[in-house]
Amino acid sequence: RIAGPCALVIFGVTGDLSRKKLMPAVYDLAHRGMLPPGFALVGFARRDWEDQDFAQQVHDSVKENARTPFREDVWEQLLEGIRFVSGTFESDDAFLKLKATLDELDNERGTGGNHAFYLSIPPSGFGPVMQQLRKHGLTEDHGDNWNRVVIEKPFGHDLQSARELDQVVSALFRPHEVFRIDHYLGKETVQNMLALRFANQMFEPLWNNHYVSHVQITMAEDIGIGSRAGYFDGIGITRDVMQNHLLQLLALAAMEEPTNFEAGQLRAEKTKVLAAAHVPVDYARSTARGQYAAGWQGGQEVAGYLQEQGVDPGSRTETFSAVRVDIDNRRWAGVPFYLRTAKRMPRRVTEVALNFKKPPHLPFAQTDTVELGTNALVMRIQPDEGVTLRFGAKVPGTQMEIREVSMDFGYGGSFTESSPEAYERLILDVLLGEPPLFPLQEEVELSWKILDPVLDYWASLPEQPEQYAAGTWGPKSAHDMIARDGFAWRRP
Ligand code: BG6
Repeated sequence: RIAGPCALVIFGVTGDLSRKKLMPAVYDLAHRGMLPPGFALVGFARRDWEDQDFAQQVHDSVKENARTPFREDVWEQLLEGIRFVSGTFESDDAFLKLKATLDELDNERGTGGNHAFYLSIPPSGFGPVMQQLRKHGLTEDHGDNWNRVVIEKPFGHDLQSARELDQVVSALFRPHEVFRIDHYLGKETVQNMLALRFANQMFEPLWNNHYVSHVQITMAEDIGIGSRAGYFDGIGITRDVMQNHLLQLLALAAMEEPTNFEAGQLRAEKTKVLAAAHVPVDYARSTARGQYAAGWQGGQEVAGYLQEQGVDPGSRTETFSAVRVDIDNRRWAGVPFYLRTAKRMPRRVTEVALNFKKPPHLPFAQTDTVELGTNALVMRIQPDEGVTLRFGAKVPGTQMEIREVSMDFGYGGSFTESSPEAYERLILDVLLGEPPLFPLQEEVELSWKILDPVLDYWASLPEQPEQYAAGTWGPKSAHDMIARDGFAWRRP
C-alpha cells in the first residue's frame, strides 16, 4: 500500500497534535516507504515562518516523536517537498499563496492536483478554511485528481451543534471527500477486535446474551488535564472521549459481522448497533460522574482538578464518567455494557472485557474449594497490547481446589513486526482514499443521541460531580452504580 503523488496540507501546524503525532507519522510513513517520491507536506499557520523554520519544526518533532529511526536519506527526500504558508484563515493573500505553492508543487513534484487538507484546528475554523479553499479554486476537480478534507473531533458538543457543523462541512465538500478522524480506529489492537471476532470460529458463538453477562469498556488515563484546561473545562471527559472513542469501541465489540470490511458494509453494521443503543432512563442509577481531587500518583502529590491552571474554580466539568448502555437487539438484550473513562486513575489502560455468566451447575463437593472469579475475555487495547482469557483451573494437589488463572497473548511476545502509530495508518488511508476507518456523520449523530440525555441530566443537577482522590479508581457512586446490578468494576 503506497500512496500516489499528492500534497498533504496541514492547518494548525504549530499545535500539539501536529508536533506530537502528525509530523512524526508522516516521517514514519516515508521511512516505511509508503509515500511516493513526489510527496509534499505543506504547513499553514499564523506564525511568521519561512519554509526552513517549518522544516526545522518538522525535523525536531520527528527526532522527538517518530517511531522509526532517523535516516538522513529519508529526511532529505521529505525535506524537498516541505513548504510553509503563513497567514490567518481570513486572509485572501495567504490562500492565494497557498494556491501558488500547490501549483508549483504540481509542476515540480508532480503532485497532480491531489490534495489532502488536514484541519488540525478548532471546529470554529472549519467553515472559514473550507470556504477559502473553495473560493480560491484549491479544491478543483479536473476529473483525474482528488481533494479530501480531514477533520478532528470535537464534532459539536451535542446532537444539534454536530448537525450544524456538518451543514457547514457538507455544503463545501461531498461525503466521500470528508474524512472524520477517530484515532482509536487507527489503533492496531482496535482493528484486532475485528480479527479476533471474525477470523476465528471459537469466540463468536459465545459473543451474545446466552453466555455473556456484561461487558466493561474502560479507558483510564493516569494523567490530569495538564495544560489543556482551555479545551477541556466545560467540555468534560464524556464529550472528549466517550462520545467518540468509547462508543466506537462499543460499536466494534457489539456489531454484527459485516459482509466484508469495505466502508459501506463496516459502517452500516456500526451504525445499526449504535442506533440500537441507549442509556437506561433512570440516569441517577445508570450513570455516575466524578471530578478528581488532590491525591497521589506515582509517588507524587498531584493537584485536584479545580486547582489546575486555567480551570474555573467552581467548574462542574466531569473528569470521570461511567454509563450503562443497553442494546436493544436479539444478540444483546439483557447484557449491560458499562463504559468508564477518567483522568487521574491509578494507571493508563484501555480494554474491552467480555464477562461471562457463571456455569449453571457446579458438580463439586462442599469440601472442595472453588474460588471462581468471572470467566472473562479481555482485549487489551493499550498499553501491553494483547488478549487475556481468564478462567478457573485446578490447583495442583490431592484436593479439588479451583482458582482463577489467565491465558495471555501479547503483541510483543508473538510478533516481531512493530505496530504503526494510529495516525500513520489513518494518514495513509486518507492519501489512499480508503474510508472504512473513518466514522460517518451518522455515527457521530447517533453517539450524541446516546449521550445527550445523560449530559442534559447532569447539567440539571445542582451539585458538583462527586470528588475522587487522584490515583484512585473513581467515585463511590460509580462503584455503587455497577454493584446495584450485581457486578464490580474490573481493576485492570
Ligand atoms: C484524545 C483526548 O482524543 O485522546 C485526550 O482528547 C486523551 O483527552 C487522548 O488524552 C488519549 O489518546 P491515547 O491514544 O493516548 O489513548
